Amino acid sequence: MRKLLAQLVRHARRSLAKRGVLGTLVLVVASSGALVNNLRPAHRHALRMQRQMDRGFDQKYHVDTAGTVSQGSLDVRSRNQLFATRYEPIRDVDFATLLADAGLHYPDYTFVDLGSGKGRAVLLAAALPFRRIVGVEFSPRLDAVARANLEHYTGERNCTDIELVCMDAARYDFPEDSPLVLYLYNPFERPVMQQVADRLAASHARRPRRMLVLYFTPHCAAVWDELAFLEKKLDSDSLCIYDTGEVAPAVT
Ligand SMILES: C[S@@+](CC[C@H](N)C(=O)[O-])C[C@H]1O[C@@H](n2cnc3c(N)ncnc32)[C@H](O)[C@@H]1O
Repeated sequence: MRKLLAQLVRHARRSLAKRGVLGTLVLVVASSGALVNNLRPAHRHALRMQRQMDRGFDQKYHVDTAGTVSQGSLDVRSRNQLFATRYEPIRDVDFATLLADAGLHYPDYTFVDLGSGKGRAVLLAAALPFRRIVGVEFSPRLDAVARANLEHYTGERNCTDIELVCMDAARYDFPEDSPLVLYLYNPFERPVMQQVADRLAASHARRPRRMLVLYFTPHCAAVWDELAFLEKKLDSDSLCIYDTGEVAPAVT
């Protein structure tokens, strides 16, 4: 408990220096539910188990993806950091389940992970024969770890066209040369999610094609629910899947 308090004080100091009083207050209000939950013994036990599994993944594949990293300790130069969640890798079992639920013919699709962190989902996607994989992360530090991971990963690779981009997801232009899978693991809050959704809608209007949004831990599902070109195919507390359905090729 003492360790936890010392950690909180450290984060508070850093946040005050970086965001000022108002910015820190916004962050505290936005994350207060999670803070209270983190103090519960059952939750802390579950976290310990999760960390053990994460370390197992890293040892097995010679990478560094485990653990959480708070935004307060990251080197991000974007106002959107105010709306960003902390880094936390997806569990391999969860990733396998969400892709199984989507039922894709992988070679047709470009897989985009917005908020790719240390690249765990990018590495897991690489085992599948996707046409192309892109990870977008705005922290240069996490992006550098992801690049090293991609180099050293000893797991299966069935996609070789993999790109990591270090930038704010709110400004990312989606590739328009193939059907798309947009994967989101609760990366940011509504203001950024809305910009991402608007960009995806504009990209679809410009170049109609099949698109799926796989949204894990869908805290801002309301943003996606409002989009007329997407149909909600799966709706649960842990995963929402949105799909345009098959799109007929444009007649030229
Ligand atoms: C919960 S982690 C998910 C990591 C990874 N996608 C996975 O599934 O293992 C969310 C990540 O989103 C990143 N992030 C948050 N806001 C972002 C933004 N506006 N642009 C790019 N990355 C962002 C965070 O830094 C963090 O690494």
